[in-house]
Amino acid sequence: MRRLWRAVLDSVRPYEAGAPLEQLQAELGVAEIVRLSANENPLGPSPRAVEAVIREAGRVHLYPDGGGTALRQALARHLGVTPDAILLGNGADELLALIAWAAFEAGDEVVIPHPSFEPYGTVVKLTGATPIWSPLANYEADLADMAGRVTARTKALILCSPHNPAGTIVRREPLRHLLARLGADPPLVILDEAYRDFADDPEAVNGIALLPQHPTLIVLRTFSKASGLAGLRVGYAVARPHAIERLNRVRAPYNVNRLAQAGAVAALADREHWERTVRLIREERRFLTAELTGRGFSVAPSQANFLLVNAGDEAEAFVKQLLRSGILVRAGAAVGFPGHLRVTVGTRAQNERLLAVLDRARAS
Ligand SMILES: Cc1ncc(COP(=O)(O)O)c(C=O)c1O
Repeated sequence: MRRLWRAVLDSVRPYEAGAPLEQLQAELGVAEIVRLSANENPLGPSPRAVEAVIREAGRVHLYPDGGGTALRQALARHLGVTPDAILLGNGADELLALIAWAAFEAGDEVVIPHPSFEPYGTVVKLTGATPIWSPLANYEADLADMAGRVTARTKALILCSPHNPAGTIVRREPLRHLLARLGADPPLVILDEAYRDFADDPEAVNGIALLPQHPTLIVLRTFSKASGLAGLRVGYAVARPHAIERLNRVRAPYNVNRLAQAGAVAALADREHWERTVRLIREERRFLTAELTGRGFSVAPSQANFLLVNAGDEAEAFVKQLLRSGILVRAGAAVGFPGHLRVTVGTRAQNERLLAVLDRARAS
């Protein structure tokens, strides 16, 4: 028989994003579902981004600017880098795949904390490279352990700060040590900062500030979280221009669509919406952490817009009970943490509703 599909596909699972909200609402017979499972922005998109998308809609018969010029220039000004240090992607997800495609091949090893955001392992495996897993220590990436797993075959290390699903950060000093240990001929260091906007710990790394000293660093960020544009799919990589030039060779010509580019430019200019979002998440993260801890749950120290909650044997039952009450959270078992729930921080009303359901579930 002619083999049509690559054997490596047997070793990866399709990403399970869950059923569409409309379908779940119909199945459960509820008018509205509060989705606290996908780490989206509870305030919605910036109104200015919405207006920009509507304005741009009449031009969707035209291909987008394949170079994403306006958005890259705006980001460059915002971040204090040059536009040739930025690559746009159809979400940060696509950038992970582009990096893998451009850099990884059979025989390479890529050191990744475990558990972590599932696509890291998937993109590595799909290239024929080997993921080298480094266990989290107390919900945090163990940078000393990761450094100890680096060999001559190591092509990259992948770090995530704040980490998904634990919510914990990579701290500046341990990262400085790790980068120093990598020596004069270091592998790529991919630092995924999808949730960086929500961090308020002064020790949290800021990848952009590290770029001048570290030529192999690639920082990933996204408009999906604090900017509230998850549905438009816009992420970006910031790295040395040489790395961006390499990645551009594997990018599809029009990978970020016209509406997404217009929406992201407008969202970037709307600092008020961004600040309101970040303020809300930080406040509500404190509130929800305190309320859950007060009820006897242990909660990983989160700097993201979600909490990883240890609910022990009751975790699965809570997920089901919450769903019956119209609240969707992520089962920890699906993200490498059995006995946990991953709960997106919502508005005060949403968080109180979640707590009330948990209280009822425990009382019954
Ligand atoms: C850690 C992490 N990186 C990257 C992404 C992907 O972001 P995007 O929506 O830009 O593809 C996510 C999405 O949830 C994430 O959790």
